[in-house]
Amino acid sequence: MLTRADFPDDFVFGAATSAYQIEGHSFGGAGPTLWDSFAAKPDKVVNGETGAIACDHYHRFPQDLALLQGFDAYRFSTSWARVLPEGKGQINQQGLDFYDRLVDTTLANGLSPFLTLYHWDMPAALDDLGGWTHPDVAHWFGDFCDIVLDRIGDRVASVATINEPWCVTYLSYFLGYHAPGLQDISATAQSVHNVLKAHGEAMLRLRSRGQKNLGIVLNFEAVTPASQSEADHKATQRYDAIMNRLFAQPVFSGTYPQPVLAEFEPHLPANWQDDMTMISAELDWLGVNYYTSKTVADEPALPWPHLGFLGSDRPKTQMGWEIHPEGLFDILHWLEQEFTGKTPLFITENGMALADEIENQAVHDPARISFIQTHLQQVQKAIHFGVNVKGYFYWSLLDNFEWAFGYEKRFGLVHVDFETQKRTPKSSFDFLRDLGSDQIKSP
Ligand code: FCB
Repeated sequence: MLTRADFPDDFVFGAATSAYQIEGHSFGGAGPTLWDSFAAKPDKVVNGETGAIACDHYHRFPQDLALLQGFDAYRFSTSWARVLPEGKGQINQQGLDFYDRLVDTTLANGLSPFLTLYHWDMPAALDDLGGWTHPDVAHWFGDFCDIVLDRIGDRVASVATINEPWCVTYLSYFLGYHAPGLQDISATAQSVHNVLKAHGEAMLRLRSRGQKNLGIVLNFEAVTPASQSEADHKATQRYDAIMNRLFAQPVFSGTYPQPVLAEFEPHLPANWQDDMTMISAELDWLGVNYYTSKTVADEPALPWPHLGFLGSDRPKTQMGWEIHPEGLFDILHWLEQEFTGKTPLFITENGMALADEIENQAVHDPARISFIQTHLQQVQKAIHFGVNVKGYFYWSLLDNFEWAFGYEKRFGLVHVDFETQKRTPKSSFDFLRDLGSDQIKSP
């Protein structure tokens, strides 16, 4: 049994959310996002669902944050289109007022506010101009960051620029599963570089304002080759370059991983090399999102990157993602050795979807408790090996809008009935809160 005493005194326990997934985007004068445009197209999002109402957190945040008492921190994001409905120009004061109240309420509940500036909700007006492929997007993003921090920068404990650039770019412009749903290598290469530039520009602006605790949140998967063959090893290196190094390497070393650069270079903006110094500005911390692992095989018949993924005997979540806690240790250890050294790491997301149901007004989710426990054991092991892990945020506080999967997949510590908006904390919620607040209790 893990207890609070197994972690350093300053280790932070928290829960994470993001703006579009919970707030209710139709409230408070927000402009449309690219997820609204994407959901309007056939077969892109389950049932064509959107974040229009979501968890109605826009109105219910006082109750939602009160639930979190006993945790140390709350990770949330600001919606670009709520603050700037057209993406630039006219500010929606109601949007800034909302984040102002949100931060005060977070603090009033004894929680450190961990802000993420961008968690995937590009204003539709900017997406119409090319979104992350537009040459000016880094500048637009920098302006948005300044506006947000002018209002709440004095009270947030930490700031992440961008959540999961891999999803913002590769998943959205190459694989096409997320908005804007393109499958275009040229747009992908440009979006990758522009997202990194936007991160760099934000870092520059935030540093010059004297903002403290600046980081970025990247997602990682543990990867293993399907066989000992040379071809499967090379395929695994390609996947690792795309999945794990495409953003970590530029941010920490100022270079692109070779297997990706070889494909992307003809499509990158002219003089891209000049941006690499700004992109690799020193970070105060790195956010690590970890959910799953993959077994990778070479598939020469498929287009680049010629990859196949094999099934495994490992148990799976409601998403079909295999559960592999040991992979979290491997990622943390690898990051420390190769890129981060003693830079603090935070697990900014880790969690599982389950088809939770209410029975007798409660949700009993022992599988989620075990998921959290086994992953935290790996975090503890990494700390024991000298990796500087400073905190763990469960994804997510609430069941919410799970992007292309709509409302079907439930990741929350708290069950949300989307008809009535009733909240029911699950047994995993009690488990994690009690662990973090040092009230020892068996699952
Ligand atoms: C991550 C996202 C988060 C949520 C979880 C399940 O990739 O950052 O918004 O969708 O996956």
